[in-house]
Amino acid sequence: MPRYCLITGASSGLGRELAIQYADAGWQVIAVARSVNALNELHQKHKSIHALPLDLTDTQLFSAAVDQLSQQIPALDLVILNAGSCDYVDATNLPLDIFDRTLALNFQAQVAAVKLLLPLLQQSTEGTLAVVSSLAHLFPFTKAEAYGASKAALSYFADSLRVDLTDSAVRVCLIEPGFVDTPLTQKNDFKMPFLLQVSDAAGRIRKGLDAQQLRIRFPKRLVFSLHLLNLLPYSLRCKVAAGMRQP
Ligand SMILES: NC(=O)c1ccc[n+]([C@@H]2O[C@H](COP(=O)([O-])OP(=O)(O)OC[C@H]3O[C@@H](n4cnc5c(N)ncnc54)[C@H](OP(=O)(O)O)[C@@H]3O)[C@@H](O)[C@H]2O)c1
Repeated sequence: MPRYCLITGASSGLGRELAIQYADAGWQVIAVARSVNALNELHQKHKSIHALPLDLTDTQLFSAAVDQLSQQIPALDLVILNAGSCDYVDATNLPLDIFDRTLALNFQAQVAAVKLLLPLLQQSTEGTLAVVSSLAHLFPFTKAEAYGASKAALSYFADSLRVDLTDSAVRVCLIEPGFVDTPLTQKNDFKMPFLLQVSDAAGRIRKGLDAQQLRIRFPKRLVFSLHLLNLLPYSLRCKVAAGMRQP
């Protein structure tokens, strides 16, 4: 009996690597992203990765695609909501378009994805819904007003969702990575502590999902450092955060 996994943001970075690792492990993978070419190329190399080109912020298109998918597969055993974007902002002239875009993808589209995909997950005897947020929301990072806020909202949503799905067969897993070397971070011009390679990060996610962890946070060194910073008196924590600004 094939196991079906749907991964969003599978055209690059973490999502692409997860798609390859799950395909290599024998899963049938439905790979969602906007870049048709990148998804087709993945399918050429790994026949068990199936391209589902889609802009996740277009709820109507997304809904139609899920209707079609429901005709083709019996259930989804794993959904990894991984698509996301990060743009930094200038606090002296807040770019509202970046806030709209970031919240639309990193939060609203994730809520829509849960609504649309939950029925297929519930068809599985053991469905797992994995939500990729970020450690970023644990600390007020410079220029991250839009990204951090979107991930804070997403983490809260996933935690709260788990509470209300307690009696269902669907398990909710919250994934909060630190820095991973992907196209998303390759544009960063600051030093990223404890940066991980993408294959390492995807491996940690798979291991945590296999172990049915409720929350997957890594690397531990960064988690520990952020916890320590959060133990500081509030005024000192604010000073440390301000000290991280770029000149
Ligand atoms: N890299 C890190 O250090 C890091 C740390 C913590 C958390 N994360 C989170 O991990 C996730 C993956 O990030 P990444 O680093 O792998 O970034 P990435 O390489 O930029 O990948 C982002 C993926 O999201 C897809 N995407 C963007 N907008 C979309 C849309 N409107 N509809 C459908 N797909 C869309 C992109 O594909 P298309 O452009 O083809 O649509 C791409 O496949 C994100 O949620 C990110 O916030 C990353």
